[in-house]
Parts: sequence; structure tokens; C-alpha cells
Amino acid sequence: MSPRLADLRVRPRRLRRSEARRRLVRETVLTPDDLVMPYFVIPGRRRREPVPSMPGVERLTVDELVREAAALFRLGVPGVILFGLPSRKDATGSEAWSGSGAVQQGVRALKRAVPDLVVMTDVCLCEYTHHGHCGVFHGGEVDNDATLPLLAKAALSHARAGADLVAPSDMMDGRVRAIRRALDRAGFARTGILAYAAKYASGFYGPFREAAGSTPRSGDRRGYQMDPPNAREAMREIALDLEEGADAVMVKPALAYMDVIRMARERFDAPLAAYNVSGEYAMVKAAAARGWLDERRVVLEILTGLKRAGADFILTYHAKDAARWLRG
Ligand code: PBG
Repeated sequence: MSPRLADLRVRPRRLRRSEARRRLVRETVLTPDDLVMPYFVIPGRRRREPVPSMPGVERLTVDELVREAAALFRLGVPGVILFGLPSRKDATGSEAWSGSGAVQQGVRALKRAVPDLVVMTDVCLCEYTHHGHCGVFHGGEVDNDATLPLLAKAALSHARAGADLVAPSDMMDGRVRAIRRALDRAGFARTGILAYAAKYASGFYGPFREAAGSTPRSGDRRGYQMDPPNAREAMREIALDLEEGADAVMVKPALAYMDVIRMARERFDAPLAAYNVSGEYAMVKAAAARGWLDERRVVLEILTGLKRAGADFILTYHAKDAARWLRG
């Protein structure tokens, strides 16, 4: 050993020499408690439809959803978020607030079968409108203020079904206020709002749109979702949603926006979620299927990284697998 190296007094490697030492100094510990599983709910019974671009993900009828979510809850995952596929689309997305819609039925069945499971619902119109935009569409544009009452109606129908948290993902201005007001007026002061506060216009939603049949017929969502280069604007969006009454806020997607997660964690004390979206899932699954990545290792590394960046909880299609791996 050279004299200079022998003089090294500080050696970070000392605490990395065994798993027990590493456990003692570990700063971030991922657990199933940190995860929320998204599900796509379809009308009907006893059907599971695989989503080709999301291997391992299936659209489920309510009975199948209950079976899946009960198993997930037994694995220690505390929450789910539901996305609905309607039996029929129209210009305003009216099935979004139908009491007999797939999401509303799914919520009722889950709260009955697994009462302690935290049931969240995505509130948006894009799966329900034939133009595929997230609001009322006139003359090539989404009309913000005309959309607010429709979102409020959809959120209220989810609350009536028993949802614990409604999660607006449309990115209309003022929607958290409109939803909070509608819930309170109808006596649902206990229903919470998880706002997709910083939701970017991202290429990573591609597989989701295949799963949910929500690709816009014309144009794109850049007129309402955030521009990917902007981080300070995300802080304004989060501040606004909290002021309007959001109980928790979200950054979405997750991986290309870890700086935004960190920045939000440092600025705000509200619970913060990260959405590890469909395209992020698809990339891992595609590489793992080719033997290019070790799926288990990479998934746990990604989810731990999102927690380290500052997320309190993570919406991820890997939730069930990760919970199983974490329980060993
Ligand atoms: C609905 C919505 C989308 C996602 C969640 N809610 C799609 C979109 O905005 O186009 C994306 C979720 C994912 O990609 O996993 N507006």
C-alpha cells in the first residue's frame, strides 16, 4: 500500500462491507405502504383484457377487480386508483358521472369487499369523450370554464359511490376549487382530493392511452398539460391546487421529473405523490423481456429513487410485484 493511501482516514466503504452495516445506515426504505396500484375498470362480468403495450396489466370487470385488489391489500399495498372505460362515448363524456359507470360500480364493490383499502378515482373526461380531450371541446380548443361543472359532477358521482379520494387529472384551471365546493355542498366534506398538480404533456402516456382508449382524435394535450421544460411553473401549479383545497399533490410522470419531485418536497409540506406512468412501466417490461435488465432489481431501484427524491407515495403498475418482492 502506498504511504499516501495508508493515510486515508475517511473511508466510506467501511459502512458498506456487509448487508447489516448497509441496513443500519440506509436513508430510504421502500415498503408496500408507499405504493398505490392503478386499475382499468371495464363494464361487464368475468373478463380480463390484456393491454398489449403493458405486459402484466389487464383491464378488469368489477368482479375481477375486487379479487385483484383484495389480494393486493393482503400484500400490504394500502391504496388503488381506478380508471374507467365507458360502454359508450359522447361529446361531453356523460358516462363519467353515471352512477352505474364502471368506476362508480368498482368503488362501491371495493368499499364493500375491502373497506380499509384506500380507493382513489381518476377524474377526467378523456376516456369518456369521442374526441378524446379532457374537457368540453369547441373550435379546436378545450373550454376550461365549461369543463369545470362536468368534472365536479364526475367527482361527486365517485364520492357518492364511496371514493376516499378523487384525483382530477385534466389540468383545467380552477378544477380543485370547483370539485371541493361541489363535494362540500353535497355533504362530502370527508372525501379528499389528490390533485395531479404538475402533470406534463408527456410522451410517456402512450401505453395508458392504448389501455384506456383515450388518445385525442385531433391535436394533443399541450394546450392544457404542462410544458416539460418548466419546473418553476410546477411550483405555481402545486401552490394553486393547495390553495384551492387539495389534500395531496402529484408530479407526473416521475422519472424524467425527479428534480420537480425534489423541488416540490423542499417547498411544500403537503403529502406528495409521484406517478410512475405507463411508458415508464413499458420500458422496464420491454427491456426485461429481452433479458436486458433484471426487472426486480430495476423496479425496486426506480421506486426507491422516487421515494428518495421526496415522494411520500408512488402510483405504479409495478405495485403488486414490488410488494411481493419487498415481503421477500
Ligand atoms: C387522464 C390520464 C392520463 C394518465 C392518467 N390520467 C392520460 C393522459 O393525460 O393522456 C396517464 C397515466 C399513465 O400513463 O400511466 N387524463
